[in-house]
Amino acid sequence: MKFEKPAEMNPIDRMKVVGQPIRRIDGELKVSGQAKYAYEWHDPAGRYAYGYPVGSAIAKGHILAIDSEAAQRAPGVLKVVTTLDVGDREKGKFNTAKLFGGSEIQHYHQAVAVVVAETFEQARDAAALLKIEYAEEAGSFSLKEAKSSAVKPKDAGGSEPDTSVGDFTGAFRSAEVTLDEEYSTPDQSHSMMEPHASLAAWDGDELTLWTSSQMIDWWRGDLATTLGIDKEKITLMSPFIGGGFGGKLFLRADAVLAAFAAKAIGRPVKVALPRPLMANNTTHRPATIQRIRIGASKDGKISAIGHESWSGDLAGGQPEAAVMQTRLLYAGKNRMTAMRLATLNLAEGNAMRAPGEAPGLMALEIAMDEMAEKLGMDPVAFRKLNDTQMDPENPERPFTQRNLNGCLDLGAERFGWKNRGKPRSRTEGNMLIGMGVAAAFRNNLLLPSAARVRLDQSGTLTVETDMTDIGTGSYTIIAQTAAEMLGLPINRVAVHLGDSRFPVSAGSGGQFGANCSTSGVYAACVKLREAIAAKLGFNSADAVFEDGQVRLGNRAVPLADAVGTEGLTGEDGVEWGDLSETHQQSTFGAHFVEVGVDRFTGETRIRRMLAVCAAGRILNPVTARSQVIGAMTMGVGGALTEELAVDERRGFFVNHDLAGYEVPVHADIPHQEVIFMEEADPYSSPMKAKGVGELGLCGVSAAIANAIYNATGVRLRHYPLTLDKML
Ligand code: MOS
Repeated sequence: MKFEKPAEMNPIDRMKVVGQPIRRIDGELKVSGQAKYAYEWHDPAGRYAYGYPVGSAIAKGHILAIDSEAAQRAPGVLKVVTTLDVGDREKGKFNTAKLFGGSEIQHYHQAVAVVVAETFEQARDAAALLKIEYAEEAGSFSLKEAKSSAVKPKDAGGSEPDTSVGDFTGAFRSAEVTLDEEYSTPDQSHSMMEPHASLAAWDGDELTLWTSSQMIDWWRGDLATTLGIDKEKITLMSPFIGGGFGGKLFLRADAVLAAFAAKAIGRPVKVALPRPLMANNTTHRPATIQRIRIGASKDGKISAIGHESWSGDLAGGQPEAAVMQTRLLYAGKNRMTAMRLATLNLAEGNAMRAPGEAPGLMALEIAMDEMAEKLGMDPVAFRKLNDTQMDPENPERPFTQRNLNGCLDLGAERFGWKNRGKPRSRTEGNMLIGMGVAAAFRNNLLLPSAARVRLDQSGTLTVETDMTDIGTGSYTIIAQTAAEMLGLPINRVAVHLGDSRFPVSAGSGGQFGANCSTSGVYAACVKLREAIAAKLGFNSADAVFEDGQVRLGNRAVPLADAVGTEGLTGEDGVEWGDLSETHQQSTFGAHFVEVGVDRFTGETRIRRMLAVCAAGRILNPVTARSQVIGAMTMGVGGALTEELAVDERRGFFVNHDLAGYEVPVHADIPHQEVIFMEEADPYSSPMKAKGVGELGLCGVSAAIANAIYNATGVRLRHYPLTLDKML
């Protein structure tokens, strides 16, 4: 199905199942321990061995030799497979750094060997006996230092590195009120709960891999490239995933190591990436330095807005696209944005939840707060005044829907914004209390997505797609979609995900998963409805699928009878026309936060948080809310604690575990509320839905920074907003 016109009324609009607050259909499997995660899989013969990965001890250089004799003789060891053994390998499409193979070292903890033994403990023990001789080279590890040598990137992830409209320099110079400030965000780690893990089993030249992946088809292709085999020879399974946040978008070393190790010993091999390897072996969100300039008239109209961002990555990498939202969020005739990329020899920088917008808004939305203060305006009113219904860089191009002002208004009312006082005007005991606001913005991305649906004589509707559920609720919203389309209750729908034998879906990333994967299921269900109608001699356009029946006029046939003993199948996918060229599709929201800051220690505690989201149709308010409160929690981490600390002499992230890389826990989050605006966007898909999981993060950290300013009168521009910076 090609989606090229705005969606008309369709069966989803009935909203009998879709849009209902249905609890996760996979929840029981998860809480009862029956949902199998990657490391819990067993090969049927039960003959798997354990692989323990070894990471490079230098950040840049070459391996001269690996002496694995002692490791090879250690108890239980079956084989040591080194990067020299497998030799140079072609890199997959989606990674910047190689995952395994060859003698070159591109970053610290890049995989250099896997030790395979009968038990995990034996493998780990033997791994410590490897003797590796390196030729170390000097590297570049400080963004601050590398910033001056940053260049305009060749590849900015499909976007223009620079944009310019009107005369920014002239308009900024002549503006009545101006702001010119620098902000910074640190390297951040996905630190999802479930570490990367894989079990690889070969059968002749065919490989089956159980793993933890957000994008089945991307992984399958890149694994085939790295192994040098046909994609068709690989079956990849990832039905349950304990979080990803972008850290499992692209093939990871555990999968490659398990595949090579299993081949080498002729038995299945399991490899989990130990938590201490996660920070430096995998990807992370790159640090940014951002300069923002805003010029406005005294009455608060923005006349000039400029945003530049510097980030670093390995050679061949991409910039953190932190200026993307500034191209679209506020009006202003004269504008410029620019991204610059420095070469760093730290681990690969890559997508982490809301790549671009999340760190971009961490800066922009502080700048907007500062500007409002300079203007003597309320920060909500200042944002509203500079709203735009057109893409500010292409004034012919409207937003499909944009209710930022509605989110700000409703949020202000519900949060009690009118009680916000001047900076440092409210105290409770030792606590200085303040409120902050930020706009939320995230683009709505579209990827093709396919599915297969089958209705059998028992009346069970089975959905198969390689879509993943990273904890987001994919199983549930897909079941809701199929149930709505065929007029069945949700308990008649069985959903199977995360298996490369199923049609290729959009996968989970960029908050596109929900809208795209359900649209693919919608398309497959249209095909199934046509097949059922054809079998009955009904005109499918007039047939009504409701209450477990298909009806035409006064004829009603139970669905189970309609499909017959053989059952019927529908398979199709959604592809996207050029609606997203002619129209800008984005999601909007407003974040409100109240903090208390200890006047003696400078410690910040969150007191209340509210998110108001305008993100198209909400397919399930329970799972959507859970996405948003999780994202808000991540925003608290981003504001207050999260930072991969760089050892700039040796070139690695020092705090490589959850003791050193601090993410919020329940006790840090006292009260969260989420409100969804009533919306359905006919331009986004037949589902009229958009993404919300990343929108929930965008702006949160800035709202906290702004609340800290309101509480203390101290303006913080460099994350994380730790107490030492209050001095
Ligand atoms: Mo998200 S960073 O695209 O998983």
